[in-house]
Amino acid sequence: MDSAGMKKGIVLKDDWPGYSLDLFTYPEHYHEDIESVYIPHGIIMNRVERLAHYIMDDFADNNNIMVLCVLKGGYKFCADLVEFIKVLGRNSNKYLETRVEFIRLKSYLNDQSTEQLQIIGSGDLSFLRGKSVLIVEAIVDTGKTMKALLKHVETFEPKMVKVAGLLVKRVPNMAESLTDYVGFEIPNHFVVGYALDYNEYFRDLNHLCVISKTGKMKYKV
Ligand code: HPA
Ligand code: MG
Repeated sequence: MDSAGMKKGIVLKDDWPGYSLDLFTYPEHYHEDIESVYIPHGIIMNRVERLAHYIMDDFADNNNIMVLCVLKGGYKFCADLVEFIKVLGRNSNKYLETRVEFIRLKSYLNDQSTEQLQIIGSGDLSFLRGKSVLIVEAIVDTGKTMKALLKHVETFEPKMVKVAGLLVKRVPNMAESLTDYVGFEIPNHFVVGYALDYNEYFRDLNHLCVISKTGKMKYKV
C-alpha cells in the first residue's frame, strides 16, 4: 500500500485550473456562480472508497468504530465514507459496526476564518469514552479548528482517535500531521460543493468547485 499517498492524499498543484464547466452537469442556477469544476464528484467518490479501505485496515482490531461527523460541511463525506465502510465489511469477513455521532462547528463568515472554535450545541461527547473514534471533517486548513476539537475530544478519554479530512489545504504552517486520512491536498482556494458552503449556498452541488467573483458577490452577507 502506498502510505505516502495515504498521508498526503492526491496532491492538486497550484496551477491546476479545474475542468471547464461545460464538460460536466451541475445545477443550472449556479452557472454564473462557479468558475470551474475543481474535483468532479466521481473522483471524490472513488477517493472516499480508497480512504474506507485504509480505515478498515487500521481499525481491524476493533469490532466497532465511533464516527464523529463534523457538521455541516462533513455530512456528505461522512455519509459516503460510512457507506463504503459498510459495503467493504459486507464483502469481507471483517465487518466494522459503525455508530455515527455529530458535532456542529462554525468558524467561517464569507470566505474568512473567524479564528475561534464555536461548538454549536452541548459539546458533551461523553459517549466517546473508551471508544475508537474517527473524526470526519470536510476541510482542514490551518488546523486550528482541528487542534481545538482534538483537545476537546481527548478530555472524554477515547481509546483511540483518528482524523479523516477530505481536503487539506496547503497553507503556511499547515498542520498536515493532524489528519490521518487525506482525500486531496489542495492549494489555498475557497471551494464549494459536496456539502461545503459559502454562506450556506452550494451545499447542493455534487462536484467540488471554485466559486466565481459573481458568486462571491451574489451570496455575500
Ligand atoms: N470552502 C467552504 N468552507 C470552508 C472552506 C472552503 O474552502 N475552508 C474552510 N471552510
Ligand atoms: Mg461553512
